[in-house]
Amino acid sequence: MGNQLLYGRFVLAFYISCHYVAVVQSEDFTLPIKAVNLGNWLVTEGSMKPSLFHGIVNKDLLDGTQVQFMSTKLQKYLCAENGGGSILVLNRTRARGWETFRLWRVNESAFNLRVSNKQFVKQGKGKKLVADSNSPTHMETFQIVRNHGDPNRVRIRAPNGLFLQAISETLVMADHEGSAWDENDPSVFNMTVLADRSLNGEYQITNGYGPDRAPQIMQDHWDTYITEDDFRFMSENGLNAVRVPVGWWIVHDPTPPKPFVGGSLQILDNVFTWAQNYGMKVIVDLHAVQGSQNGRSHSASRDGYQEWGDSYIPDTVATIDFLAERYANRSNLVAIELMNEPVGVNLQSLKNYYQAAYEAIRKHTSSAYVIMSNPLDRDSKVLLSFAGAFNRVVIDVHYYSLFSDTFNNMNVQQNIDYIRKQRASDLSSLISSKGGPLIFVGEWSGAWKIESASKLDYQVFEKAQIEVYSHATFGWAYWSYKCDSNYWSLKWMIENNYVKL
Ligand SMILES: *[C@@H]1O[C@H](CO)[C@@H](O)[C@H](O)[C@H]1NC(C)=O
Ligand SMILES: *[C@@H]1O[C@H](CO)[C@@H](O)[C@H](O)[C@H]1NC(C)=O
Ligand SMILES: *[C@@H]1O[C@H](CO)[C@@H](O)[C@H](O)[C@H]1NC(C)=O
Ligand SMILES: *[C@@H]1O[C@H](CO)[C@@H](O)[C@H](O)[C@H]1NC(C)=O
Repeated sequence: MGNQLLYGRFVLAFYISCHYVAVVQSEDFTLPIKAVNLGNWLVTEGSMKPSLFHGIVNKDLLDGTQVQFMSTKLQKYLCAENGGGSILVLNRTRARGWETFRLWRVNESAFNLRVSNKQFVKQGKGKKLVADSNSPTHMETFQIVRNHGDPNRVRIRAPNGLFLQAISETLVMADHEGSAWDENDPSVFNMTVLADRSLNGEYQITNGYGPDRAPQIMQDHWDTYITEDDFRFMSENGLNAVRVPVGWWIVHDPTPPKPFVGGSLQILDNVFTWAQNYGMKVIVDLHAVQGSQNGRSHSASRDGYQEWGDSYIPDTVATIDFLAERYANRSNLVAIELMNEPVGVNLQSLKNYYQAAYEAIRKHTSSAYVIMSNPLDRDSKVLLSFAGAFNRVVIDVHYYSLFSDTFNNMNVQQNIDYIRKQRASDLSSLISSKGGPLIFVGEWSGAWKIESASKLDYQVFEKAQIEVYSHATFGWAYWSYKCDSNYWSLKWMIENNYVKL
């Protein structure tokens, strides 16, 4: 007994001298955390609750929707010759990139048409149609008039009030005055909506409802989707933290740039209070940055292009600075995550941003962890040595058994083996580096590609994941708390006894 005590003291002294940081960490908070993501709340993800979009007029024509127009008379597709920078023609029998237009929604029936080189279609000189505009204004705004009986039969009204028509295969003009809908009319087009490429994020929902309706729709969603009682449920079921996705516009509350609407900052304030009431910690996760870091709906992209880069760094750092300043004195702020899931972002730009954003946070707090998301399209070790230079830094990796052909033909046991072998090995290769960053499995879920799994299969799969991810030195966070798809909803999984934490 006495010897053990002496040994214990020795070990403690050893740790205090050599691993001071580690002791401090375990004093103020017990890592690793067990968290859940509060997804589809302050950053909309339409696929998690499609009904949020149901009240939008022309809800299949939201920002970023990709459409193609075939002249019913010529049976040829409208094409931005060379992908843009030139005239529109009507001489293609197949529709690919040059024949595909991304919508920028002006209102429920008026749109700008972005072509593949990112320029916009405009009504040019002599009523000819050209795709060489860099910024859309009046001359780039077209009304898509849908036929009542067949919404994909359309006519396109140009800014001059006249309709586009096929003069020939190589000449499209805005000079048609008639109103016929028959197939031989040169102004009638068959519109194909590429629904599987549509976006359904915050940009689409707010701009879809428009400035008159969006503020109330969003406020109602924020007020009801997750409430203080959910924090009671989470804490009673073994969770001790939440990861809250937020969008860049939150710092401009209550009057963010359009189409975004104000009110989400008060909700984030509430999160800290509610979490505090139930002894839970908060991770603020900058999920959507201006310019979009991955082109996906959940980055609040307007049209699917990833455009975040060097020119966005100052504003994005200012966003982090604002969040750090506002929440640094909340005792339950555990971490700020600088950017969710970059994909296609220049690595040096990302590092420059991470460095500057880290310094912005450290002006306000030395204790909050700074989480750096690993780029989804790169090796999970790509940031390890870079992150090792900072204090209290965490690398976030996301482990889904989806989104890769790897999982296509795996059966239940192979899926479980993959967690216990490949995932465990990846994780241990990340955490083995001495003095390096902590590791966070910031997103994982119970969903997989198996179509007819039993409840027991799910239970074993979730248990394996929790066991393996519990080795992550910072902890893990399930995606998500609530979702229409049951296996993506930790609440549903807990209530129905699919998972026990
Ligand atoms: C379509 O018209 C453009 C402009 O005249 C021409 O350059 C192009 O080769 C034509 N393409 C086809 C497939 O006819
Ligand atoms: C939509 O915008 C167009 C072009 O600005 C305008 O002419 C039209 O009246 C608007 N429609 C609605 C329903 O607001
Ligand atoms: C119109 O396009 C749809 C696909 O969006 C296609 O199924 C249909 O056959 C087309 N109709 C005509 C008349 O070309
Ligand atoms: C944090 O600081 C703000 C502004 O100084 C203050 O209003 C607020 O009461 C503080 N909150 C806590 C929990 O100390």
